[in-house]
Order: sequence, then structure tokens, then C-alpha cells
Amino acid sequence: TEAPVKIAVTGAAGQICYSLLFRIASGALLGDRPIELRLLEITPALKALEGVVMELDDCAFGNVVNIEIGDDPKKVFDGVNLAMLVGAMPRKAGMERGDLLSANGAIFTAQGKALNEVAADDIKVLVTGNPANTNALIASKNAPDIPAERFNALTRLDHNRALTQLAQKLGVSVNDISHMTIWGNHSATQYPDLFNALVGGKNAAELVDDQAWIEDTFIPTVAKRGAAIIEARGLSSAASAANATVEHMRDWVLGTPEGDWISMAVPSDGSYGVPEGLISSFPVTVKDGEYSIVQGLELNDFSRAKIDASVAELVDERNAVTELGLI
Ligand code: NAI
Repeated sequence: TEAPVKIAVTGAAGQICYSLLFRIASGALLGDRPIELRLLEITPALKALEGVVMELDDCAFGNVVNIEIGDDPKKVFDGVNLAMLVGAMPRKAGMERGDLLSANGAIFTAQGKALNEVAADDIKVLVTGNPANTNALIASKNAPDIPAERFNALTRLDHNRALTQLAQKLGVSVNDISHMTIWGNHSATQYPDLFNALVGGKNAAELVDDQAWIEDTFIPTVAKRGAAIIEARGLSSAASAANATVEHMRDWVLGTPEGDWISMAVPSDGSYGVPEGLISSFPVTVKDGEYSIVQGLELNDFSRAKIDASVAELVDERNAVTELGLI
């Protein structure tokens, strides 16, 4: 029998995981393969997590071989092949950005160190917890023995939001759209790029033919969608974030569709002038479990300025966590 893939998930008693764990367990991540779930929470949330595990048990998913829970990353991450770092400290009223970075810094330094010590050699780490790009950078810098390329951050939710906004604008199916890209940070400065996207093989920006809509409607709608969901639902996006987390990891493990690319925040190799080492979103393809940043795309002045602004924010965040001694 096939050895189970060991999958660590943090923040396992939280909202995103209440959707994510059931998607993973039902086979949406790896299909018909045996898996072992390793679920990490903080001590006060372990009881709630036990309840989630009872529900997972009650689904009788045939591919779930074992579920372990705990509050010690060194035990939970032991031998894991995939890690989805969802748990993070949310920004509370009155919290400055520096407070948020240091609260999350404590979480992601500890988890990076634990992964470095005990994860399997083929470990892939995807950070969903915000600020995702910089949390991924902190984890990676604290895991010097794991290649930096194994640390990604999630911009797939932004990518999917962009697909639907464009599809609704043009009255087409999301299936007609390819080559969508989110550039930069998973934040309000992100840049969803219609100039390289295709609809039925034709240039999306040309089909839209409305620069004002792109600037004043499309980009802010995609970039501020998280806030709109909170406004409507009273809670932040959870099922859609879980879906994006599954899709990113699935494509990273199993590959991207032929003839298309997807958006992933990955360590920059200097492509498109993004400073090396910053974890920034790019168009990528994946083959045999290894991603490559798509090369040679043309960027007009508008796109260039938007990407530069988002990358500047990532540089600021890196400087801030460097000053805090987190990396
Ligand atoms: P939540 O607050 O419902 O759950 C977070 C869970 O993480 C809590 O159960 C908490 O106890 C746990 N946690 C905190 N510190 C931990 C630690 N050191 N180790 C293990 N678990 C820990 O939050 P939700 O809605 O599930 O969101 C999780 C994160 O995902 C947030 O940071 C949120 O901002 C982010 N997010 C990211 C998105 C993206 O597209 N990248 C989209 C939506 C949310």
C-alpha cells in the first residue's frame, strides 16, 4: 500500500480550516491518495479542534489514514510533506502594523524553525495567514536548510476573484479566461493584470476596452474584496480562502494546466525587476512539482508602476521584520 502523504495544517480550529480540512480530506487536494492530517492549534483552541476532528471522523473519508492534533509544532510537523500555514494573529482594534508583524513574527519564526528541524525532505510550505507574503519570508528565513523555493504565499484567492470579475464584465465563463496574473503583495496594493490575460484567446484589456473600468472598478474590486466580504458577511472570507489554498497546493504538487499559468507568491529570482528573495506574486507554471516564473511578458507603463508600488510595500515589510530581528 502507498505511504500516506503527511499534511500539516495550522489554525486548524479556525474559520478557513472548517472548510479547508474537509476539502483536503475528501480528495480535492490530491485525489485518490491516502493522507495523514497533522493539525496544529494554540492550546486554548485544542478542545474546539477535537470537535472538528470528531466531524472529520463522522465523514468517514476513505483516504484519511490518521489524524493527529497538537500545540507543539515540532511534534505536529514531524515528517510532514506538505504544510499549509493558515493560523495567524488577526489585526485587532488599535494594533499598529509593527505590532501585527511582531505578533505574527513570533508564530512564523517558531514554525519555520520547527519545519527546518523535523519536516520531510520534500516539504512544500504554503502560507495563507496574513500578512501572507511576509509571514512566508519569516518562516523561510528561519528554515535555512529548506530551499527558499519551497515557501510560497497565497494569492490564488485574488487570482480567482479577478477571473470572476472579468467574466462577469464580459458576460463570459471563467473557463474562457486564461493567463490571469496577480503581481506583488497579497494586500490592497496587489496588481491584477488584464494586459496579459486572454479571453477566448484574445487580449482581455483590448476586449474590455475601458481603462477607467480597469483602474477605478476592476482593480479596487479585486484588491478590496476581502473588506467587502467582511462588510457583507460580518466575517472574513473563509470558504473561498480554503478553496484557493487547496487549488494553489494542488497545482504546486500536481502541475498547472497545459497552455495556461496561475498566480503564486514565490521568492523572486530578480524576474521583472522584483528584488531577489522577496516573496512576491508572479505568473507561474508548475511541472513535476517545481514551479517556474513565466518569463518575457510585456509590461506597459501602467502595469510597471502598479507592480513597483506593490513591490515597494513588500520591501517596507521586509525592512520592518529585519529591524524587528525576525529574519
Ligand atoms: P480564524 O481567526 O478563524 O482562525 C485562525 C486560527 O489560527 C485560530 O483558531 C487560532 O487559534 C489559530 N492560531 C493562532 N496562532 C496559532 C499558532 N501559533 N499556531 C497554530 N494555530 C494558531 O482566522 P481565519 O478566518 O481562519 O483566517 C486565518 C488567516 O488567513 C488570517 O490571518 C486571515 O487574515 C488569513 N486570510 C488569508 C487570505 C489570503 O488570501 N491569503 C484570505 C483570507 C484570510
